[in-house]
Amino acid sequence: MPNNYYVTTPIYYVNDKPHIGHSYTTMLADVLTRFHAAMGDDTFFLTGTDEHGQKVQKAAEQRHMDPLAHCNETVIRFQELWKRLGIHNSDFIRTTQERHKKIVCRILQDLFDRGLIYKAEYTGHYCIPCERYFTEKDLLEGGLCPECRRATSKLIESNYFFKMSLYQDWLVDYIKTHPGFIQPEYRANETLGFLRKPLGDLCISRPKSRLSWGIELPFDKDYVCYVWFDALINYISAIGYGTDEEKFRKWWSGAHHLIGKDILTTHTVYWPTMLKAMDLPMPKSIFAHGWWLSGQDKMSKSLGNVVNPMDMMNLFGVDAFRYCLMAEMVLGNDASFTQSSFIKRYNSDLANDLGNMLSRAVKLTIKYFEGRIPAPGGYEAPDRELRDQALASIPLMRSAVENMKIDRGIDGVMNVVRAANRYMEKTAPWTLAKEGNMARLATVLYTTAETLRIVSGLLLPVMPCKMKEFRMKLGLPEEIAEKSDFAGRLAKWGTLEPGTQVQDTDALFPRIVIEEPMAQLKAEGRKANPKAEEKKSGTVAVGAETVTIDDFAKISLKTAKILEAEKVEGADKLLKLKISLGTETRQIVSGIAKYYTPEELVGKIIIVVANLKPAKIRGVESFGMLLAAKTGDTLKLATIDGGEFPDGIAVG
Ligand code: ME8
Ligand code: MG
Repeated sequence: MPNNYYVTTPIYYVNDKPHIGHSYTTMLADVLTRFHAAMGDDTFFLTGTDEHGQKVQKAAEQRHMDPLAHCNETVIRFQELWKRLGIHNSDFIRTTQERHKKIVCRILQDLFDRGLIYKAEYTGHYCIPCERYFTEKDLLEGGLCPECRRATSKLIESNYFFKMSLYQDWLVDYIKTHPGFIQPEYRANETLGFLRKPLGDLCISRPKSRLSWGIELPFDKDYVCYVWFDALINYISAIGYGTDEEKFRKWWSGAHHLIGKDILTTHTVYWPTMLKAMDLPMPKSIFAHGWWLSGQDKMSKSLGNVVNPMDMMNLFGVDAFRYCLMAEMVLGNDASFTQSSFIKRYNSDLANDLGNMLSRAVKLTIKYFEGRIPAPGGYEAPDRELRDQALASIPLMRSAVENMKIDRGIDGVMNVVRAANRYMEKTAPWTLAKEGNMARLATVLYTTAETLRIVSGLLLPVMPCKMKEFRMKLGLPEEIAEKSDFAGRLAKWGTLEPGTQVQDTDALFPRIVIEEPMAQLKAEGRKANPKAEEKKSGTVAVGAETVTIDDFAKISLKTAKILEAEKVEGADKLLKLKISLGTETRQIVSGIAKYYTPEELVGKIIIVVANLKPAKIRGVESFGMLLAAKTGDTLKLATIDGGEFPDGIAVG
């Protein structure tokens, strides 16, 4: 009987566009699902959108739209992005769907009938961005939200409450007796810390007079359901709870929730107590990963420091972007996002180590064996060593996946690739060929090809398209890792049939070369290197003399409105601008103080490079670069003809 593996991501708020934080969780779920399928598990992968609540209602109001119409429009951004990122989710749930609302109502009614929901007067402080109530004593100094440090508003009203407090002792005991229920372990300790204070009951309603965008309570039409109570239920409504018991039981028995650490309490306190009240078993695990940071701060829509996944995809290609996200974050910890660290990782792991290895192996096979994989002779010590290391990386990856240490599994695979490169240098196939030692050369090339078969198989879940291409170059038949005992076959040394035709290959991962951002050079008063980067074959040179339309498409030019402008202290050439790019505001620093006064800039619609890597200029954060033309002592900003124009619009 195959093991059932059911994995979920948070359902994301549809108040704005997805950024790389959302992409990360969804991609992680995709990679895990593909690995589990390759190990022979039956898999189900759920993602979706959280469409009710104040945040979404506010976003719709700002756009003068009906909330559902707003949701219908924004949900597409998520669905399209997941398609572009190669995400193979089994289902996509929207909390505005009938199938979900029906179950939420049924659960509410049941808990109400059983006396687990009651009505009472409530005084609380509400944080809209977090969609959470806090008591007076939870608040930080100045009445700020303890989670996000933003202002809260005080509310007194009658509401319905779920008797969460009943389950405090049970929950503490459950967490203590089920190691691995909350992961990593330090997050379990964080939840236990939270549970040291008395647990109150959970306010699960909002009066319609204040918030109308939600699921109406089945027992009181003046109220809608609290968005978190509604949202958490998606994990069971999507898999047939209350409608298809067999399906539900199958998947719920193998449930794993992936979340970011921002929503630990709702998932490790609210949700388990809700399930307990419903008499349902707990999920197998709740894993909270860390945050992608921009500098020191969490990357978040409201802070306006997000990185657009589309920009990254355009730069790296989907699969390499998937690889970098998975390899760069130690699962559980925070990671700082910088484009340059991704480029470094890409160039060293993919362009150099993996890509070069393949192209060497294929070229040598073509040159000396007419493009057919040669039959190996007797193995010598270095061959056996490489073989054993390659084979050992399979269980290593398996345990990395099972223990939620994907980054370590990937690292193990890359160690094999690096060992294979060293092996080639040591065994020197070119010398063997020169000496006419074809038997030894055959063994060396066969060992290399088999090693590449294993590493590419192990990386298939991370880079499904690129590794498929990689394997085709090796002459391997197309295999769907998710659909068979792939892991078993992977571990059989000698699977590559001698005589298999390999295919010549262009660089699978062309090197990325990026010149120093012009903005920084300008601001620092230096001259850019007048000689453009020489274009080597297989090199993507951003900033080379001529560019293709695809190169140009990597630069995101947008209209921006200048909201504020001020001088940068101690730098008489620089101005600090606050600009609006449609849905986000940014700060950019520009060397235009000699040409414009701050007052004349405010309100102007300008053109900026929106995806320029953030930089510090004279210690001041700058994210983006404005366009201007300069001749002699005159500098003029590039603007939009006519001046009146919305901001955040693509220029191209
Ligand atoms: O919280 N780094 O939705 P949300 C890493 N609707 N991951 C990040 C991230 C970052 N900087 N920013 C966001 C909600 N994420 C609720 C969830 S579930 C029943 C309801 C990811 O749109 C991470 O997974 O704010 C985080 O938990 C989630 O997006 C929050 O998405
Ligand atoms: Mg959030």
